[in-house]
Amino acid sequence: MPRVRTRTILVTAAVAALSTAASAPVPKSLPRGVSPVLYELAVPAGSEPTPEKVALGEKLFNDKRISVNDKVSCATCHDPDKGFVDHKPLAEGVAAPAKRTQRNSPTVLNAMFNAVQFWDGRAPSLEEQAKLPILNPIEMGQKSSDDVVNKLRGIAEYRTAFQQVFGHELTYDDVAGAIAAFERTQYAGDAPFDRFVAGDEKAIDDSARRGWGLFNGKGRCNNCHAFSTVSPLFSDQKFHNIGIAAHKTDFIGLARKATAIVRGGDLKQIDELAIQTDLSELGRFLVTKSSNDIGAFKTPGLRNIAITSPYMHDGSFATLWDVMDHYNKGGVPNPNLDGGMQRLGLTEAEIDDMVSFMASLTSAKFAAFGKQEMARQQAKKTVRPERDTAVATGKKGDLGDLAPTPDAAKPAAFGVLVRKGTSYD
Ligand code: HEC
Ligand code: HEC
Repeated sequence: MPRVRTRTILVTAAVAALSTAASAPVPKSLPRGVSPVLYELAVPAGSEPTPEKVALGEKLFNDKRISVNDKVSCATCHDPDKGFVDHKPLAEGVAAPAKRTQRNSPTVLNAMFNAVQFWDGRAPSLEEQAKLPILNPIEMGQKSSDDVVNKLRGIAEYRTAFQQVFGHELTYDDVAGAIAAFERTQYAGDAPFDRFVAGDEKAIDDSARRGWGLFNGKGRCNNCHAFSTVSPLFSDQKFHNIGIAAHKTDFIGLARKATAIVRGGDLKQIDELAIQTDLSELGRFLVTKSSNDIGAFKTPGLRNIAITSPYMHDGSFATLWDVMDHYNKGGVPNPNLDGGMQRLGLTEAEIDDMVSFMASLTSAKFAAFGKQEMARQQAKKTVRPERDTAVATGKKGDLGDLAPTPDAAKPAAFGVLVRKGTSYD
């Protein structure tokens, strides 16, 4: 089998090349489903999570005193016992209930492997990410990094701990460094699916096995939620407009508004626009200002997806059945809809199989919670706000693949969304 051997050699060579580059040593006991190759890429030398740094980071992660009013910690929105999310559609910080953020809290599990952080990728690292919510006016509300440093220096236990771990008086960079070290121990693997891939065919049931086939076949999910044993994250780490924000947004109007007010490359301003304003729906566009990125968001990984509802950047889908209904009809039409979005024509039984597959991605330590969450979602299965069977099966609609009987008199009508107010309508 020459092809397989070449591949093995290539992967071995890649690993060898990586281990000569400056990267932290890979822990001996990574759970199944966590890639040592990715670990080396994700953890640069000098930022390895030493036990002392991790313990300090975990304490900070759970400490409400980091916020301006002692009421909100990272864990408020990323609860470690609940899959590191808050299970609210939109996250709520120090300004709640008067003001909520515009975005859904993603999980911190496996965030260490993200090429970039946040739904729009505006932060390049875990360290830069951690510095933003602390200073965001409606998340943790601190006015400046100096305020945070002064407050923490005033707490004796932190004064001592930072001195011990970093060898100097605490700085804002150290706060972010310690939190990031803790996050670099929060990987997600060890799911029934991982035993299945490793050769235990019985590790997932028939329905989940069929779902895995559909995920890579008729469902086309692997176009974006790519899986390989080297990169087992179920994400291509890219940005796509799949029509989530299209429910409620005039993209063109918003993009005009954003172009007028976004100052070049100012991360703090982009953070506030994304978290606090209706420009949030522009997604990646706020970062790149490229019209291709209007309404595009990062493809999230799917591990532990059963325990991190509600879904999407705006938390607008309550269940995995809603997610499936959205994809089945080819997303919601808008001028920037990703070309990878097409109607799928999945039957109800196929949708159930794909949900079963996604439920097999729950890590062992959340198994009980995963079962409970799936039972809760199952009970809501009869409420299907996103379902549009006529569009999903090609009986209606003009997006996705060609409808069964194309209208020969109007060939341009297929696959092109004509907006009112353009020269085409
Ligand atoms: C008020 C709720 C809230 C608080 C407090 C909060 N976060 Fe978040 N977190 C969010 C939301 C919402 C997002 C997504 C925002 C976006 O993409 O624009 C997010 C994104 C992230 C991400 C990126 C994950 C990904 O997949 O891109 C990480 C990592 C993270 N938060 C860690 C932290 C840490 C560490 C803290 C404490 C310093 C913290 N968060 C405080 C709500 C919160
Ligand atoms: C064209 C790329 C693309 C394809 C194809 C695709 N996805 Fe996604 N998926 C995304 C992006 C991007 C998001 C986030 C979108 C947003 O929030 O606006 C997402 C979000 C999700 C979420 C919600 C994750 C969360 O944490 O909230 C689930 C679940 C999901 N996809 C499953 C699937 C399944 C199942 C399929 C196949 C039927 C599929 N996706 C096909 C790109 C894609």
